[in-house]
Amino acid sequence: MPAAGSGRRFGGELPKQYLKVADKPLIEHALRSLLAHPGIDGVVVALAADDPHWPGWASLCGKPVVTCTGGAERADSVLAALRSLPVDVANDALVLVHDAARPNLRGEDISHLIESASVCADGAILAAPVRDTLKRASGDVIAHTEPRTGLWRALTPQAFRRDLLLRALEAAIADQMIVTDEAMAIERLGLHPRLVEGREDNLKVTTPADLLLAEFLLSQGA
Ligand code: C5P
Repeated sequence: MPAAGSGRRFGGELPKQYLKVADKPLIEHALRSLLAHPGIDGVVVALAADDPHWPGWASLCGKPVVTCTGGAERADSVLAALRSLPVDVANDALVLVHDAARPNLRGEDISHLIESASVCADGAILAAPVRDTLKRASGDVIAHTEPRTGLWRALTPQAFRRDLLLRALEAAIADQMIVTDEAMAIERLGLHPRLVEGREDNLKVTTPADLLLAEFLLSQGA
């Protein structure tokens, strides 16, 4: 779980993963949703250096929580987490990468993702089809409408074999490519992770408006 971001786009003093929604920090919702699933053995959380907000969990839901120090970009944080996996995690073990700022992940989506990634050598990601009409901007006017057919929004978790993801992230970082999700690093190797349609309410909290929506979803257990 990459959780080393400062939440620049959200603003405010507290990194967004520590904002409270339905009585718990976003990151706690995200961690519990993962760890409650029987297919998940434990979590490595990548934290900002000297993060004063981390509550210090060593376990949650009866499963181990290990921490490491993340890096400047998301890929650096995920790579640090992969390198901090316990030695008994096999090279070809499936690892899931999930945003700390996605508090509303359902067990059924985790199950579907694991099923797909188990049979697809290139891995799999949760994703949702684009619903809105897409406009290409030219300054502040519309240049044209982009066809949305075949376009998906990448969600998390994203699941890959440990050794493949390690190789992909190392290559992206060596090439100084900023990858905004893990699948993008895999795609750069010429591989094709599978799209697994997930729930659209698996939202990433990016703006204050998202926080209200998350509060609504989590407080009613919707
Ligand atoms: O900023 P954004 O919403 O894309 O961040 C997605 C996730 O990646 C968050 O959980 C954030 O904490 C994490 N991240 C990280 N290390 C960075 C940047 C982002 O762990 N350098």
